[in-house]
Amino acid sequence: MQTLQTTSLRVIDNQLFILDQQALPQEKRWLPADSVPLLVEHIHALRVRGAPLIGLSASLLLALLAENGEDRDTLARSLETLRASRPTAVNLMNNLDRMKLALAQEDYVSALLAEALRLIEEDKALCDSIAQAGSTLVKPGSRLLTHCNTGGLATAGVGTALGVIALAHQQGKVTNVWVDETRPLLQGGRLTAWELGELGVPYQLITDSMAASLMAKGQVDAIWVGADRIAANGDVANKIGTYSLAVLAKFHGIPFYVAAPQTTLDPNCPNGEAIPIEQRAAAEVTGVAGSFGAVQWAPENAQVYNPAFDVTPASLISGWVLDSGVVTPEQVSGGYFRR
Ligand code: MRU
Repeated sequence: MQTLQTTSLRVIDNQLFILDQQALPQEKRWLPADSVPLLVEHIHALRVRGAPLIGLSASLLLALLAENGEDRDTLARSLETLRASRPTAVNLMNNLDRMKLALAQEDYVSALLAEALRLIEEDKALCDSIAQAGSTLVKPGSRLLTHCNTGGLATAGVGTALGVIALAHQQGKVTNVWVDETRPLLQGGRLTAWELGELGVPYQLITDSMAASLMAKGQVDAIWVGADRIAANGDVANKIGTYSLAVLAKFHGIPFYVAAPQTTLDPNCPNGEAIPIEQRAAAEVTGVAGSFGAVQWAPENAQVYNPAFDVTPASLISGWVLDSGVVTPEQVSGGYFRR
């Protein structure tokens, strides 16, 4: 495979490397990810994270393993192991379904390579289209609020919700971005703050619990988030804390937009209740860890509930901003995502 570089993925001499998203922003550290156990470990640890990126990294690794001589049966097993690495973001399953079709072809080595590269190029184009469509909804002088990380780190392109915000900022329409730190793993505080800083977009970091009072004070004009899975009725699974923002937005009359590519759609999933929600380790809630070290503040045996995602019902969403354009609540109740 040719040399390849996105914000978070790199291929050199047929080896895959990932940008360690747990080490950012203190350290920019590239780690090898050239075997299935290694990539699965990176995905579990959220060194590789974000719905589109998880799917793209798994697809790229399969293509590289094929090029490096792995046989068809072993690749088929690798594909299923990668598919099971995280349960909620459907981009992984959607991407791997396409890789599975490529694996069934006679010249599966070339087919897997072509498909993985196509997925990367498509993701860049999907992000650009989302940004174009979403930026039309941003009014001049906007103070936007975002949650988790939906930028270039989480995709092969400019990102989803963060891509919208970045383009709207280039168009001179964004005054400030409120960045939820996004407990427990701090994707907002560590990654979104870093990306917005790199892009020169003005932002202020807040703890998740500060969003309500900002809305009450009239300091938030719209909320933009990404998605890990969009069910057929328009319900959206996204990072834990998204649902509370949507409830708050409804109460305060603030538009709540979800930005996602078509790879995040799951027409086979009837509604949010059917979306599998990943439960994660207690240590993520009882303390914090990163390249700065690790600390635990809760009692040693504290009992913990730690779902990585929640579901926002379609009734709380003002618009689904896809690469194909803005989908309205009326379209969604008319069965738009069931097609
Ligand atoms: O657990 P993470 O960090 O992978 O969760 C990421 C999110 O919830 C994002 O909002 C979502 O994947 C969209 S990324 C473009």
